[in-house]
Amino acid sequence: MKLYPLQIHQGLYPAHLQRAAQLYFDAFRRQVSPILGINEQAVAFIRRCINPQQALTAIFEDKLAGFIGLQYGGQSFLQLRLSQFVDRFGWLLGRIRFRQAALFEQSVQTGDLRIESIAVDPGLRGQGVGTWLLNAVTDFAGKQDFKAVHIDVPDTASDVFKLCRRVGFNYVSTQNWSFLKPFNINNFIRLTKIVSLQPE
Ligand SMILES: CC(C)(COP(=O)(O)OP(=O)(O)OC[C@H]1O[C@@H](n2cnc3c(N)ncnc32)[C@H](O)[C@@H]1OP(=O)(O)O)[C@@H](O)C(=O)NCCC(=O)NCCS
Repeated sequence: MKLYPLQIHQGLYPAHLQRAAQLYFDAFRRQVSPILGINEQAVAFIRRCINPQQALTAIFEDKLAGFIGLQYGGQSFLQLRLSQFVDRFGWLLGRIRFRQAALFEQSVQTGDLRIESIAVDPGLRGQGVGTWLLNAVTDFAGKQDFKAVHIDVPDTASDVFKLCRRVGFNYVSTQNWSFLKPFNINNFIRLTKIVSLQPE
């Protein structure tokens, strides 16, 4: 770990919201742009959708080094609301774009935790931030009595796949969703890390 001291924090501080929205947009640009556009308004829209409690963040020298967005207990990191789409795009287009965005939603079983997104500041990559964040999720899941942590990695994110495999996530399945082709994804690969083998 070159970045010392790196702090892992549960939740996203208000001061880091804008940066998180930008990192999210950059990481998912190819999927997000066809729905939200390519400009700063797309980042502003993402910012309004972020649920700050559903994140683990890595902080270096008071700046956001990276984050993991979490889905569990009926709450998502990105909370999509029809009203926000209608406000932004109008009655008809808002409904269409809301439905498009909802295509990416995945369910998670009670007792499991799902990583919705991971992104590290491009200038700080290759120094262990992503590894720390993923290990922090496993620690968090263990303390909160979750049984497993899942992540659905798009085939466009080979760096995420490699990192998850290195920290102990195992291959579960490949979901081939042809309806996501217009959003530059062919399939999602589900990886899982078992946290607890205890019977319920
Ligand atoms: C994938 C991602 C999260 C990795 O973050 P990161 O902070 O660079 O991850 P790490 O530094 O822990 O690991 C990356 C590499 O650096 C290496 N590394 C880690 N610490 C290191 C150190 N101190 N010195 C040298 N190398 C190091 C790791 O071994 C790893 O190498 P590998 O790729 O050969 O396995 C980051 O590249 C990213 O944000 N990508 C875009 C995310 C994205 O597309 N998200 C959307 C889909 S969910």
